[in-house]
Amino acid sequence: MVILGIETTCDETGVGVVENGKKILSNVVSSSAILHKKYGGIVPEVAAREQLKLIVPVIDEALLSARCKLADVDAIAVAYGPGLIGSLLIGVETAKTLSLSLDKPLIRVNHLVGHVYANWISQKLKVKNQNWVPPKFPLVSLIVSGGHTDLILMADHRKYRWLGGTRDDAAGEVFDKVARVLGLRYPGGPEIEKLAASYQLQKTSLKFPRPMIDEGNFDFSFAGLKTAVVNLVTRDPLRRRSEASQLPETRYSEIAYEFQNAVVDVLVTKTIKAAKKFGVKSIVIGGGVAANAVLRSRLFGAGKKFEVTVLFPEKSLSIDNGVMIAAAAFFEKNIVDPLKLQSNPSLHF
Ligand code: KG4
Ligand code: ZN
Repeated sequence: MVILGIETTCDETGVGVVENGKKILSNVVSSSAILHKKYGGIVPEVAAREQLKLIVPVIDEALLSARCKLADVDAIAVAYGPGLIGSLLIGVETAKTLSLSLDKPLIRVNHLVGHVYANWISQKLKVKNQNWVPPKFPLVSLIVSGGHTDLILMADHRKYRWLGGTRDDAAGEVFDKVARVLGLRYPGGPEIEKLAASYQLQKTSLKFPRPMIDEGNFDFSFAGLKTAVVNLVTRDPLRRRSEASQLPETRYSEIAYEFQNAVVDVLVTKTIKAAKKFGVKSIVIGGGVAANAVLRSRLFGAGKKFEVTVLFPEKSLSIDNGVMIAAAAFFEKNIVDPLKLQSNPSLHF
């Protein structure tokens, strides 16, 4: 079964063609991130206007690179939420039009579920690696992106239980906001990761809070951590001592290092706590922050210790893309009436 998946929930326009939920025939993603750089975050109106221009060329390119025509596609899948309403509308209305005009089934996909299924796609890419096994149920999934930090328990395909999520800022969002304070570009996650890696001492007397790390629930809160970093950067005694009122270069990298450790500590502790409580067989990670190398190595280490298989998608599939939507659509098969499907910016589980 060949599914064409459309993803336009944030600033990316992603279209993927996938066979049987696993084999990638094509993956085309066009991001408008460069247009948002000067604002330090996504401007929804700008993102949606770009997606309007890009959606048809990106579909064309995805079909071309999959060497297939629309007629060869068995179903159209689309992420219908959560996300930015203007952006969602572009993908959802395009998918409805394709479904109606081609008389092909339309499958709706929750964007967050798409991130979970990026881990099934990785099977194809890593199949030669003998150590790699596909995700096994029950599993816990940590979804960490610019808009979300959620822990989900999955007993099987289509059987979800939301365990908890952030009460304020998402993990990726604080990476982006702290990056701005440190004078780095958007998106902040990769920039902070680079700066933190340049911190040579690899130990620090700085200690940022690890919010909610010891609480018995599976919720997160990152706004206080962000404020702690902002307060330190603006009131650091080292700034007052310097003539240019600038912090020394190494202080920025030390702050990035400790900030990243604080976020990773919280994410790893809560994910492992959930995995142990529910006796899961796998932990799967999804969302843009899953690209973070420190998060990856800490979770792999914890997984080994507690004998749970930890899976991350390929880096290119951690970010928003149409392939993960097509994969989720294959396993979920939530076929809907194209005349009735509505975008849902605040879609939950
Ligand atoms: O999933 P995604 O592409 O879009 C959303 O649905 O939000 O995630 C984007 C987020 C941004 O906040 C970005 O800073 C963060 O993922 N990110 C990272 C890294 N790469 C991207 N955060 C930490 N470390 C990274 N290497
Ligand atoms: Zn996402």
